[in-house]
Amino acid sequence: MTKRSHWNSRIGFVLAAAGSAVGLGNIWRFPYLTGENGGGIFVLIYLACVALVGLPVMVAEILIGRSAQSSPVGAFKSLAGHTSKWVWVGWLGVCSSFVILSYYSVVAGWSLHYTWLSVTGRLVGLGPEGVKPVFGELYQSAPMSLAWHLLFMGLTIAVVFGGVSKGVERWSRILMPALLIMMLVLLGHAFSLDGFTQAVHFVFGFHADKFTSIGALEALGQAFFSLSLGMGAMLTYGSYLHREDDIMGSSITISVLDTAIALISSLVLFPIIFSYGMEPSTGPSLVFISVPIALSQMPGATILATLFFALLVFAALTSAISMLEVTTSYFIDERGWQRRRAAVLAGVVVAIMGIPSALSGGTRYFGSDLVSLLNKNWFDSMDYLASNWMLPLGGLGIALFTAWRMDEALRYDHFLSGSRLRIFYKWWLLLLKFLVPVAILLVFLHAVGLI
Ligand code: PFF
Repeated sequence: MTKRSHWNSRIGFVLAAAGSAVGLGNIWRFPYLTGENGGGIFVLIYLACVALVGLPVMVAEILIGRSAQSSPVGAFKSLAGHTSKWVWVGWLGVCSSFVILSYYSVVAGWSLHYTWLSVTGRLVGLGPEGVKPVFGELYQSAPMSLAWHLLFMGLTIAVVFGGVSKGVERWSRILMPALLIMMLVLLGHAFSLDGFTQAVHFVFGFHADKFTSIGALEALGQAFFSLSLGMGAMLTYGSYLHREDDIMGSSITISVLDTAIALISSLVLFPIIFSYGMEPSTGPSLVFISVPIALSQMPGATILATLFFALLVFAALTSAISMLEVTTSYFIDERGWQRRRAAVLAGVVVAIMGIPSALSGGTRYFGSDLVSLLNKNWFDSMDYLASNWMLPLGGLGIALFTAWRMDEALRYDHFLSGSRLRIFYKWWLLLLKFLVPVAILLVFLHAVGLI
């Protein structure tokens, strides 16, 4: 048995975990959800969801990982017993990471394609009519979507292959500060645009008429996805954390960083959209159609578009790494495989699983029903299954286990070690016992259409 790897420093862990949290969910999904659900009022509710539900679950995940010093399946085996039903929570995490990464990588691949187009100056000068069909062509072209998806998976495998401190931590230390700097440059630029005031009003104004109870549930689901909770990514990263490092303090830093990036993204995207008189559209078209159209008309378009799409790739890469790390660590811990073999094999399986998602738009090549399920295409089915069911279910299991089943002394000990925030212990436990399970059950009732 080889010795378990650990992070080189607490800041390395914080950057890697923040890298997992900051991803396509922040830059692409949060802005349009905010626009759709009443701006400021949605933001307020989202903040409450992060603080009262997301943060407690994050602390619980990291704490389980660190106390068990193992990835999800092994962690529940060692804390609850080998034959315990709780081990299913670990299995669910491993399955979720396979499912999410398989389609996440397709979207990340699209970002790579746009980065390539931007660097080579091919978005510039096309004009709105020229930029618009670019996404359709990519989405419908099976070979292109597939090639970019495979390239992105190759990059992800290469980082995880390097190990915890020499791969994941090293790259997070490079990519995360780069991402922050790029974000601030783009924010500075957005600030100088005419549409900035309109964007601030759109994002932070209280448009209560647009807000419904569904918006509150969307906020909760988004908090889960954005903070990378419910599939054992934080648990796995927690298992590489040193005994003396503060879990509560780190979780607060990670959540604040993730939320700040989501808010800044909105203040980068919407001024661009409004300054060119475009509609704040929803879904993939916001980032892959509206934004490129606006960017391509701006002075300095090549640089701005390259910055924006490279930022998207960086954000997606650090999140994808955390998902592949979950499956890789499963093979290492449970099957005793060497890291390199585990990373490559898990990565290849995910890459193959992503093929139907990459082909989902390819109706030109394949009948669309070939890759469909649940009346949605394969891509949308995977997204629906993972964000509405698998992540919240995993989060529920983690919260219930930590609050009601875990050994009290062990829990208390790990919460306190290295932390000056011991006054939060009681509150944390209270939220985990009652509020978190109720909130997650509401998400389920919403998913089955009962509320
Ligand atoms: N948090 C990532 C994002 O916002 O894009 C997505 C994600 C990563 C979800 C890792 C779940 C996960 F375990």
